[in-house]
Amino acid sequence: MPAIAVIGAQWGDEGKGKVVDYLAARAKMVVRFSGGNNAGHTVINQYGEFRLHLVPSGIFYPNLTSIIGNGVVVDPGALLDELEGVRQGGVDIGSLYISDRANLVMPYHWLLDGLEEESRGKGSLGTTRKGVGPAYVDKAARLGIRAGDLLDPAAFRQRLSLILEQKNAIISAVYHSPTMSLDEIYDEYCAHGEKLAPHIRHTEPLMAETLSKGEMVLLEGAQGALLDVDFGTYPYVTSSSPMVGGACTGAGISPRYISGIIGVFKAYPTRVGVGPMPTLIEGETQDMVREHAHEYGATTGRPRRCGWFDGVAAAYVSQLNGFSAIAVTRLDVLDVLPNIKICRAYQCNGERLEHFPASLSVLEQCQPIYEEIPGWLTSTSEARHWDDLPHQAQAYVQCVEEVAGCPVAVVSVGPRREQTILRSPLL
Ligand code: GDP
Ligand code: IMO
Ligand code: MG
Repeated sequence: MPAIAVIGAQWGDEGKGKVVDYLAARAKMVVRFSGGNNAGHTVINQYGEFRLHLVPSGIFYPNLTSIIGNGVVVDPGALLDELEGVRQGGVDIGSLYISDRANLVMPYHWLLDGLEEESRGKGSLGTTRKGVGPAYVDKAARLGIRAGDLLDPAAFRQRLSLILEQKNAIISAVYHSPTMSLDEIYDEYCAHGEKLAPHIRHTEPLMAETLSKGEMVLLEGAQGALLDVDFGTYPYVTSSSPMVGGACTGAGISPRYISGIIGVFKAYPTRVGVGPMPTLIEGETQDMVREHAHEYGATTGRPRRCGWFDGVAAAYVSQLNGFSAIAVTRLDVLDVLPNIKICRAYQCNGERLEHFPASLSVLEQCQPIYEEIPGWLTSTSEARHWDDLPHQAQAYVQCVEEVAGCPVAVVSVGPRREQTILRSPLL
């Protein structure tokens, strides 16, 4: 009964969409388990190029069921737009289901995300402003509205009216902003509910049935472990758990069924939004890598900061998640660099640090200790087997697995599905 979790191992945008699209060829079901439309997963295949925000990256396989799990916060309007885009690409969306327990992102969540960010001034977190943080706050505060609520309009109106009264009090008294209309939100969300109704259901039994038949379920992570609300660079994190523990609670699956945990690492990490990044690439190389690799956010278009591979963070994340294998993406981006650095430890207040610190002020003082590795200065994008890679590129990947303490099973050398090297079996 194999369930395989695919987990972002840095600050997001590691290429989870591409890896899930590649692995989904063998799966019967793909389940998104956390985050919302703050995520942007790029998939390039025979249907074209897609940036998926809520729809699981397995949607392109006709015999596969796609599930948006209870741990996801769903903006129904954004989901409908996205489904329309996918449908127009010629893809059947009939087998997509949304957990009736998934909390919804409401219009006051978008508003509050923006108002809270502005009120933080220079201390802003750089959120995507999609309302995801405030939606998780309401979920924990037991003030959420769930997908299943849309199926009972009378009860939905009653609950919305109660919650909106409180939200409007905050919007007007704290932020001095215009309040929101109950009728407008109700009408808009009832219309969304009517369109989404065929997709909303109990999703846990579907998963249980698939697993009981011995078929593969892929658990698709969003964001990355260093954005985890507990283990990331708090408070510069997202509001959910993108790690393997979040996969259990966010999909409704026992850890007993998870037989593989794949950590997706970019060959060099990137970060969009605010927050520390110890191995930030300095000087002109930063701009060179960003432009060469076109490192701009798939959701907000903001420039991504690029770093050298951070072995301290990688070891920390690998251990926390218990990765059984690693996928390294974007190795091809490094093709143009004569020398490549990899961080093996930090120097902090005169001491060598090998553990990723919890304290932001300590992390901000950490200076990376690098090992420099010669580049390969030749294209890897046509490589399809491990032996096709130049010797120096193999050595770099081996260095990644050594510092992360976990074998690299997949190497990605381009954004397309076929630009993937399966180095060792995943199961
Ligand atoms: P995700 O959020 O983890 O799914 O990643 P994003 O889609 O936000 O960002 C990853 C970007 O890298 C996308 O533009 C992908 O098309 C692209 N990509 C994925 N794997 C590779 C690779 O091996 N090489 C290159 N050059 N691009 C890749
Ligand atoms: P995928 O799934 C990269 C970042 C935001 C911000 C912080 C908090 O594509 O890897 P939020 O809107 O979640 O409250 O913002 O988290 N962030 C991401 N960065 N990729 C993502 O998703 C992200 N989702 C959130 O930029 O720094
Ligand atoms: Mg992304």
